[in-house]
Amino acid sequence: MLDLALEETLDELDPLRHLRDDPDPDSGDRAHSSSDSIVPAQLPSILNQTIELRFPCSSSANLHADHGKIIIRLAVDASPGCGGTAWPAGEVLSRYIARRGSLEGQTVLELGSGTGLVGLVAGKLGAEVWITDQAPLLLIMRRNVEMNDLSSRVHVTELDWGSPIPRDIPPPSLILAADCVYFEPAFPLLVKTLADLVPRSEKIDDQRRREHPEVLFCFKKRRKADKRFFTLLKKEFTWTEVADDPDREIYAREAISLLRLVRKR
Ligand SMILES: C[S@@+](CC[C@H](N)C(=O)[O-])C[C@H]1O[C@@H](n2cnc3c(N)ncnc32)[C@H](O)[C@@H]1O
Repeated sequence: MLDLALEETLDELDPLRHLRDDPDPDSGDRAHSSSDSIVPAQLPSILNQTIELRFPCSSSANLHADHGKIIIRLAVDASPGCGGTAWPAGEVLSRYIARRGSLEGQTVLELGSGTGLVGLVAGKLGAEVWITDQAPLLLIMRRNVEMNDLSSRVHVTELDWGSPIPRDIPPPSLILAADCVYFEPAFPLLVKTLADLVPRSEKIDDQRRREHPEVLFCFKKRRKADKRFFTLLKKEFTWTEVADDPDREIYAREAISLLRLVRKR
């Protein structure tokens, strides 16, 4: 087993290695070693491909569905960074919101959207949506919005965690985040952004919504250090596992959990 100091040094050199190695979290947290092979393993190139994903939806979303399914066409391209492909927690969260049904009348903000998958599903369900990420991902998100005919409802905005929330994003009623815990230096930044978006009750003024937004946070555990994110999060939020998802047992086997965060008072 690698010790923590070595893990941290390796993280600094290659922050995305845990996403690629994806070790079994029960197997002692080790990254796969390529030391026993002469030629290091190569990543498959994902350049400018298009995939199609289908999510069964409840009858309340029929207005936006195609034979009971939300269909998303997605450009995927690994060149702008790890967010350029669809990640498992994003699919879990997409499936959950599609099954819950219509989001008509809701204002949705997605953090770390990558390709925009989850936000696009929310748009198909009738919500007004802001999908956000760092600058290199904006192009692929815009492409995906256009490809799914959602330009009137899904808006693409740069939101770097830890920075002030852009003024053009209205107070959301639903906040979504999938597979955003993987790079330790970003942990406090993500917690700050979540806390900025869900002010403590006494800080909500008349301009903001009186009710707190719902926060759905889908997380895939990859390594022990992920716990540090939750140590930081605990200072600002409590959370419970979403209990009404029939797929829960299936994705739990892949170390994925879907959480509902609630701001501490
Ligand atoms: C593993 S990908 C998940 C993408 C998408 N949510 C999904 O489930 O397919 C993590 C995403 O977080 C974004 N991200 C990482 N650090 C960020 C930061 N400091 N500010 C905003 N986004 C960030 C990455 O660019 C990437 O799109």
